[in-house]
Amino acid sequence: MSQFDLVVIGSGPGGYVAAIKAGQLGLKTALVEKEPALGGTCLNVGCIPSKALLHSTETWRHVQHSKHHGIVGADKLTFDVVTMMTNKDKVVAQLNKGVEFLVSKRGVEIVRGLGRLGKAGQVLVRSTSGERILETKNVLIATGSVPIELPFMKFDGETVISSDQGIALKTVPRSLVVVGAGAIGLELGSVWARLGAQVTVVEMLPTIGGPAYDADIAKVAQSALEKQGIKFELGAKVTGVKKNAAGTALTAERDGKQLEFPADKILVAVGRKANTTGLGAAEAGLKLDERGRVVIDSHFLTSLPNVYAIGDVVTGPMLAHKAEEEGVAVVENLAGKSGHVNYNVIPGVIYTDPEVACVGISEAEAKTKGIEVKIGKFQLQANGRAIATDGTTGFIKVIAHAQSDKVLGVQMVAKGASEMIAAACAHMEYGGSAEDVARTCFAHPTVSESFKEAAMAVSKSSIHSL
Ligand code: NAI
Repeated sequence: MSQFDLVVIGSGPGGYVAAIKAGQLGLKTALVEKEPALGGTCLNVGCIPSKALLHSTETWRHVQHSKHHGIVGADKLTFDVVTMMTNKDKVVAQLNKGVEFLVSKRGVEIVRGLGRLGKAGQVLVRSTSGERILETKNVLIATGSVPIELPFMKFDGETVISSDQGIALKTVPRSLVVVGAGAIGLELGSVWARLGAQVTVVEMLPTIGGPAYDADIAKVAQSALEKQGIKFELGAKVTGVKKNAAGTALTAERDGKQLEFPADKILVAVGRKANTTGLGAAEAGLKLDERGRVVIDSHFLTSLPNVYAIGDVVTGPMLAHKAEEEGVAVVENLAGKSGHVNYNVIPGVIYTDPEVACVGISEAEAKTKGIEVKIGKFQLQANGRAIATDGTTGFIKVIAHAQSDKVLGVQMVAKGASEMIAAACAHMEYGGSAEDVARTCFAHPTVSESFKEAAMAVSKSSIHSL
């Protein structure tokens, strides 16, 4: 007889949420984690610590630009990086404890050590105290991802760093070159630029933020970040690192021209890759794709019977909330329910100032797919709350189906976009039209009213713009 109904390998947002759901639904569950703290990349070295640093540095920047609020003498203030890091660590530790509490209270056994697939129905867990064999009916692989290393510039943890080090620097680098204008590059670039580092972001694509965002959105975000002192070198492909007596420089190439960017630190943020290290995938016969991701079917089942996989280690956007949804769905299926993930409504957020957020398809994607759409836009400059709160940079864009008026996508650059995008997700989840949004009552004054106005603009009926 099996000891467990489910053994989850990996305690990131995918794994720990799946374990909690399994406990809730009465499955006898174990959660295997190789690190001392639960929570995975997101909680320990990703989403959460970076949000703490972004909050600290945003507070600093706001105070420095607050003369018009009557706050004087800000130029005499100093910033203590070590205290900021201590605060970040406190935030992480509090959440580590919270996750462990919730998981344990749901009756889930936490097993510490490196989990490996054994023979059918077994997970082997190796730790300093030896190897333990867990007998289980089902296995869920939720082992996440690790930063991609460029082959010609390996991480050395000192000069060439990943986000793991980028969130833990003890001092502000004089110059920081960031490779990659995705979420990590823009967020950590913002953190260190706000503290005075000369930040240059080198990106091979012509726009920032990645392909999910329309060019008009990316442009406004770029210009806001440029005003904060970040330099962008777009359309430039990184070629290597040059080290000599004068220091270190990143080398790149654009239109056949060689470029050089001197840097104290080079943060490589060119994406992440699936992590199956130590899982025993080959020995167990677990099928991986050409990018090393675990292959799954539409029910998260891998090539092995009763072995499932979710989150960053499988296909799809590498986002904590996507992993969470998948974790819930797979466990609901195991418990005889009908788990389901709506991949059309997975929001994306970049937590810069202003924030950048999207859900559904972009205008460009609609064009590529031949979907006829109507667009509604609303500039924050015309929103009362935005004017009263120094938040007029940006706009909101609604992409609706030309015939049915159904909202297919929403994009925004706005202070508070990370919270506002939730309203767009809810409308889209229920198949709402632009008119449905336009006829919903939003509190006044809120920046969210700009979403309503953008929805009105789809039918050219915006009240606060012409
Ligand atoms: P990313 O895939 O989002 O962006 C990487 C960028 O690097 C792309 O724009 C790409 O064109 C560029 N790039 C790749 N190779 C290059 C080269 N050789 N030279 C110049 N540019 C190059 O990856 P990122 O920012 O590292 O994030 C990793 C994952 O973590 C992503 O899936 C991201 O969505 C997720 N994440 C999400 C966050 C959020 O939701 N706020 C925060 C942090 C990470």
